[in-house]
Amino acid sequence: KKRVLTGINTTGTLHIGNYVGAIRPAIQDSRSPDVESFFFLADLHALIKCQDPERIERSRMQIAATWLAAGLDPERVVFYRQSDIPEIPTLNWLLTCSTSKGQMNRAHAYKAATDQAVAAGKEPDADVTMGLFCYPILMAADILMFNAHEVPVGHDQIQHLEMARDVATRFNFQYAKPDEPFFTLPQATGGSAVEVLPGLDGRKMSKSYNNVIPLFEGGRKALDEAISRIVTDSKLPGEPKDPESTSLTVIYDAFAAPEEAEAFRAELRAGLGWGEAKKRLADKIDAEIGPMRARYEELMAHPEEIERILQAGAAKARALAAPFLAKLMHAVGLRAFA
Ligand code: TYM
Repeated sequence: KKRVLTGINTTGTLHIGNYVGAIRPAIQDSRSPDVESFFFLADLHALIKCQDPERIERSRMQIAATWLAAGLDPERVVFYRQSDIPEIPTLNWLLTCSTSKGQMNRAHAYKAATDQAVAAGKEPDADVTMGLFCYPILMAADILMFNAHEVPVGHDQIQHLEMARDVATRFNFQYAKPDEPFFTLPQATGGSAVEVLPGLDGRKMSKSYNNVIPLFEGGRKALDEAISRIVTDSKLPGEPKDPESTSLTVIYDAFAAPEEAEAFRAELRAGLGWGEAKKRLADKIDAEIGPMRARYEELMAHPEEIERILQAGAAKARALAAPFLAKLMHAVGLRAFA
């Protein structure tokens, strides 16, 4: 069976970019009988960006509820919290010891942090924690722990997948027989028509740009409110519009069949007003996510049920991780813990 794995950082609430880039394609894949899926809450990763314990806890519940509301079936899928699997940080260390620093120096997230510090007149590494610097190794451990073949992620994570392949190759080279590698090399996949969903202003949809359309939080009202802020030109109803002049059409594409998306563009060219176009987009998105939002709210009212599901998932994940880690520890010359 093909193994598909993906994770989401528990640093806040989710937006429709996370849904289109990771959650929706991952859940679609998980319904195939040929696929074994692993979805997890990356709460160890969350500590890198967020030092607010309450926020991490709240976010973990919100993101777990989001996965379940979006259709994840915890019976079919191995669904867990990263921090419940102590084998992952142990594997992280084994991988850390065979990964070169030079390789990590090239990570986009690390480079962005040093550029920012320099721009602010500080030492390049002033604000870089070792967690941030080693982020891609922990992510490689997440993926390699379960030997995932495919990892559905948005475009921004592709470099991390390349790094995971490099980390795996190096470890295999150092410790495995050439014909019996420990790790499969994972592939990034993205199920969406758009690789990176743009936000209200046309840049990548991202919390840090404050340009997101929230997925469930705030309900239909917050959805309408965000969509009303999508940047368009000031052409009036009746005037022909350039459908490519705004992210509105690209976001529409992510929720519509191709013919429908083309018809929408044709109407804009023929003079459909931006106000009406925004209403159509909001209705389109809500038709898909509205029923999920109702389930989300129901789940959020029962945190004990979410906790039960996560603990059952952790048991399934550890049953696979523990024997594999034991084999890896043996390979590097350590005695495996029970
Ligand atoms: P995170 O939490 O930042 O994002 C979760 C997922 O959402 C995708 N995404 C987008 N996709 C399309 N358009 C956008 N505008 C957009 N914004 C975010 C991200 O690409 C991601 O797939 N490093 C990961 C978490 C992680 C992980 C892993 C993923 C930790 N370990 C192992 C896969 C495998 C991250 O930053 O996700």
